[in-house]
Amino acid sequence: MRDKIIITIDGTSSTGKSTIAKRIAKKLDYIYIDSGAMYRALTYYAITNNLMSKIFFKKTSLINDLSKIKIDFRKSYSNNNLEVNLNGISVENKIRSLEVSDLVSQLAAIDEVRIFMVKIQHSLGKNKGIVMDGRDIGTVVFPEAELKFYLEASAELRSERRFEELKETDKNISFNEVYNNINLRDTQDINRYNSPLRKASDAILIDTEKLTLDEVENKISYYISTTLSNS
Ligand code: DC
Repeated sequence: MRDKIIITIDGTSSTGKSTIAKRIAKKLDYIYIDSGAMYRALTYYAITNNLMSKIFFKKTSLINDLSKIKIDFRKSYSNNNLEVNLNGISVENKIRSLEVSDLVSQLAAIDEVRIFMVKIQHSLGKNKGIVMDGRDIGTVVFPEAELKFYLEASAELRSERRFEELKETDKNISFNEVYNNINLRDTQDINRYNSPLRKASDAILIDTEKLTLDEVENKISYYISTTLSNS
């Protein structure tokens, strides 16, 4: 049997990382981990426990709470997908709101939060056979990963894609709100001191601007087959 590898997919928000990562993981029978969902789950915890809003952030209280917070992934009852769980309860359908999206990058910039998340991410990847997407997966979490990708596209196109998705569940959402959120998160994720969003020097850059999801998947699959046949 071929050795299992670690595949990382990083990039700015809404570049199609999670859709592609999910497809690739399914094809290879690997596990797919959406690391952004972990930061979103913690943001949801902070909001629902009155530790965070647009006007306040009780950062020290959140850091103190980390020891009693459990974030993991469990198979959903309805489909076989892994869903992010917060203290044993799936929060998968609570974490994609604009409220969470607007606050998540601020929380993701905290050192203690990143240490907490990276520890969980390392344990998820200890047996390899994993596709993980995020911002720092190829640079900080698994710098030794066998295959790394970095996806990019313009903020306009990414906002259009995200707007189309979000308006399915939120009829009141506007394109401008989505565009502003994407720009705000890009700025915060790229400029933070700890684990900023960067392309790892050995990551394969894929510009998804003019490609369909199938085309992106085909490109990535090509690199994967080459790597696996040489391993
Ligand atoms: O992938 P996403 O858009 O769901 O991620 C939400 C936020 O979480 C993103 O704006 C920054 C943060 N994040 C991070 O800092 N590091 C990661 N590995 C993944 C996400």
